[in-house]
Amino acid sequence: MILKTDFIPKAFTTEIEQGNFSWSAPSNIALVKYWGKKPNQIPANPSISFTLNHCKTITKLSFTKIEKVENFSFDLLFEGKPKEDFKPKIQKFFERIEVYLPFLKHFHFVIDTQNTFPHSSGIASSASGIAALAMNLMSLEKLLNPEMTEEFFFKKASFLARLGSGSACRSVKGSVVVWGNHINFKESSDLFGVEFPTNIHANFKKFQDTILLVDKGEKQVSSTIGHDLMHNHPFSEQRFLQAHSNLSAIKIVLENGNLEEFIKIVESEALTLHAMMMTSMPYFILMKPNTLEIINKIWKFRNETNIPVCFTLDAGANVHVLYPENVSAEVLQFIKAELVGYCQNGQYICDKIGIGSQILV
Ligand code: PMV
Repeated sequence: MILKTDFIPKAFTTEIEQGNFSWSAPSNIALVKYWGKKPNQIPANPSISFTLNHCKTITKLSFTKIEKVENFSFDLLFEGKPKEDFKPKIQKFFERIEVYLPFLKHFHFVIDTQNTFPHSSGIASSASGIAALAMNLMSLEKLLNPEMTEEFFFKKASFLARLGSGSACRSVKGSVVVWGNHINFKESSDLFGVEFPTNIHANFKKFQDTILLVDKGEKQVSSTIGHDLMHNHPFSEQRFLQAHSNLSAIKIVLENGNLEEFIKIVESEALTLHAMMMTSMPYFILMKPNTLEIINKIWKFRNETNIPVCFTLDAGANVHVLYPENVSAEVLQFIKAELVGYCQNGQYICDKIGIGSQILV
């Protein structure tokens, strides 16, 4: 078993003056949701997600060796322009990971970042953004310690990403990623995400995710607050048990291709996530009227056509429409004819299952 202390490096073998890396990291969509955490970003229950292909953050990290400084030294650019309001999140991330990357105060960094999806689209960029930065920092650690194995590289990248934003640890490697200890996933860990251990069924290989942008505004309640409200929540214990059993069930489904069961688990997970929000104290609702309109339309379409299309939700009002590739034409026609009217400015993003973070040259 890997312990967090295994991620504290010993002495580095190489000296580096300056350089840069570029990584892209995708967003991901959870099928069994993470909602509720213990201290140090340890999840209260395990989760599983599809990594996306199109919605990504691309981050270039430039670094220059300096005399060790008191505070972290970095500039942050978003789409080429300085972005002061992103800095506190990075500062906090650096503080949390410094013990695992003790070289951080020995470099000045320029973090130049951009997303492939429109910003303020209501699509959280924290998972992809933090993952892209974690990948770059690991590339720098690998320069300092070239003996590092590839397996360790990706595990530690996911471990670091988790400390910036829980779900970011599922944006590092793999098209299906499990995070959190679960009895049926031998390699699973609370400390980092691991790739789904067996082959997924052909039904899921090119799975589609069309993201309907229902509300692009700032969320009224952040995920951090939402997670926190799972402490002393009247249904939390039951919910955490349910996530364990849904993960067991979805493992079987991803292997045998049973779309009917997949739909039941995924939609129930989405609604349970929002039910937890509605039954917190204070309670809150992140869905909008159009979220419900879309859900009802999807149910009606599925009943009438038997096409295996379903929805899931993040901590927001947008709807992820999930379906196998072989029904893409019918589902896209349905989306254009019946769902686009519920999207803000008619906006939606066509995405699909992807392969994780990539180094760019
Ligand atoms: O990683 P966070 O703290 O932003 O939490 C994400 C929580 C959900 O997106 C709602 C669920 C999940 O598992 O991704």
